[in-house]
This record gives sequence, structure tokens and C-alpha cells, in this order.
Amino acid sequence: MATIHYTDAEGTTTDVEATVGDSVMETAVRNGVPGIVAECGGSLSCATCHVFVRADDFEALPAMEEMEDEMLYGTAVDREDTSRLSCQVRVTEGMDLHVTTPETQI
Ligand code: FES
Repeated sequence: MATIHYTDAEGTTTDVEATVGDSVMETAVRNGVPGIVAECGGSLSCATCHVFVRADDFEALPAMEEMEDEMLYGTAVDREDTSRLSCQVRVTEGMDLHVTTPETQI
């Protein structure tokens, strides 16, 4: 079992039971969570799936690849130290991940 907690820019949180192996982006889109656009469908070419990960959760995630790091410079809202592209973060067993979506993705 895994749970992703999505908080929007206004502070409203949606908790979703996630499927292991899905991405954090796919989990949001499939469950109607607002705030993640995912224009490219997860092919790492749009940066509209930007999220801010809670600091302690961020440390526990696998490190990002270079391409994701580069794409994060193209987000609508400037990246922060704990920014990730949610299509590149996979749900793992027991995950309890807290992310905040930016006020806009476009
Ligand atoms: Fe396009 Fe993540 S969905 S980069």
C-alpha cells in the first residue's frame, strides 16, 4: 500500500491510495487530482507535472536523472530545492509521499 498526499497552492489536500509502479503524475491524473497538467503524458518533455516535495520525503526519493534536472528549469513556477517532475517519481510499496502543486503549470 502507498499513499500520496497532494496539496494545492491554496492548501487543500487530497489523499490518494496509489498503485505501486505508477508515477506520482499518473496517480494524480487517474484520480482527478487538480494541479497537475501532464501535457506530454509522462515523456519528460513538458514540465507541467511539477511538484514540490516535502523536504524529508524528498531526501528519501531516488535521485533525479540529468534530463529531469534540466527540464525543471522550464517550469511555469520557478523550481525550488525540493522540486521534482511527478511523472519521473515512481510509487513504491509503503510510500507515504507529500507533494504540493504550484499555483500554475502553464
Ligand atoms: Fe510532461 Fe512530466 S508529464 S514532463
